[in-house]
Amino acid sequence: MTVNDNTGGTGDAPKAGERVALGVTGGIAAYKAAEVLRGLQRAGCRVRVAMTVHATKLIAPLTFRALSGEHVVVDDYAPDNPDPIAHITFAQTVDLFLVAPATADIIAKFATGVADDFVSTTYLACDAPVLVAPAMNTTMWEHPATRRNIETLRADGVRIIEPDAGEMACGTIGPGRLSAPERIVAAALEILRGGAARGVRDLAGERILITAGATREEIDPVRFISNRSSGRMGFALAEAARERGAEVTIVAGVTSAPKPPGVRVVEAVSAEAMMRAAATEFQSATVFIGAAAVADYRPAGRSAQKIKKSDAALTLELVRTPDILATVSAARQPGQLVVGFAAESENVIEHARRKLHDKHLDAIVANDITRDGAGFDAETNAVTIITADRAEPVELPLMSKLEAAHKILDEVVRLRGGRAGKSARAK
Ligand code: PMT
Repeated sequence: MTVNDNTGGTGDAPKAGERVALGVTGGIAAYKAAEVLRGLQRAGCRVRVAMTVHATKLIAPLTFRALSGEHVVVDDYAPDNPDPIAHITFAQTVDLFLVAPATADIIAKFATGVADDFVSTTYLACDAPVLVAPAMNTTMWEHPATRRNIETLRADGVRIIEPDAGEMACGTIGPGRLSAPERIVAAALEILRGGAARGVRDLAGERILITAGATREEIDPVRFISNRSSGRMGFALAEAARERGAEVTIVAGVTSAPKPPGVRVVEAVSAEAMMRAAATEFQSATVFIGAAAVADYRPAGRSAQKIKKSDAALTLELVRTPDILATVSAARQPGQLVVGFAAESENVIEHARRKLHDKHLDAIVANDITRDGAGFDAETNAVTIITADRAEPVELPLMSKLEAAHKILDEVVRLRGGRAGKSARAK
């Protein structure tokens, strides 16, 4: 089945009729749950909805009933509830329990095992994977109590979709905004495809170093040369590698996507700073993956003062930055794998192959950045993986960056001589 593009996930869709229980709790973002529901339906899932009483103040159960075609459970003791033991049948006949938006309150209940409403009772009674998309005010999200509860949920095996940063309904700017519905749908589909939730740890023992994001080369105190990389591809690789048991370090340039939890992050803004950080970290790494969009040139000098405009043309002298990937590759010791990316707008495979060859890489991920939904600052990507040991490239369709990351890591596992875990699991 082909999944609609705006679900954020394409490629192998889950079997038609995979059952998702969608828990909606009382945050301003509750209305976005309707978009999540539609995205899941477009991907072929059957969705039933449970709501807290507070959620019903923000969006009517009738909306979800109309969209899902199913009774929406708020109170399982209500006379109109057709199922006398709804908390058991609802919870135990699903393939995924997704809570979006999840308030600080429901997260606290899940973390402590309180079951005083239908959504929290469903959590306790559920043996399917659980995915939680928090949304709340920044101060509440950053409160030590919420941080503790989130860590408890992670330790209990719950998957968390980190909230986005941005302007909140209350006017605060910071993290806490519900992640985009297409990201939530993509994460749900990822779990339904079976890999993430089953915890195959085929990268256990690997120490993976990943560069992510854009570098920023300063011209003067206010101006710089940079690019549109969000860091999402590198972060997806980090998340997937951590999920598969690797110890992960990211050397991050300038990024706009949320950083994945559970990985070490070293910040490095310029190409030279990224070079230094990568060279140091590579000494203790077993695999290097260069997903960052590193500036090839920087201004020959940085003006200490803001450059004044005049009517004359301004010429900037640019000089080459160090090639981090080539340098790391040249410094590698036996047993260290080096994987690069190639962001290309023409002759994609040919140019990528040349980089693979010239930089003596084990593999290169060719990225056609002219394609819709692929490359810079997109949720999805369409890449071709070329390895030094195989004549035929592996061409992948458009899919979420997390899925693409798993496919790339499958190649890392294969190059190591292991079996490719994730794709095999996803069948
Ligand atoms: O961050 P996102 O918004 O998710 O976007 C993802 C991405 C498009 C940035 C990513 O998928 C990608 O293609 N990254 C490589 C971008 C790039 O700079 O490609 P390149 O063809 O110019 O460079 C080839 C390789 O050399 C890359 O691995 C790059 O990290 C590395 N490089 C380049 C220049 C340099 N001075 N040092 C390097 O290490």
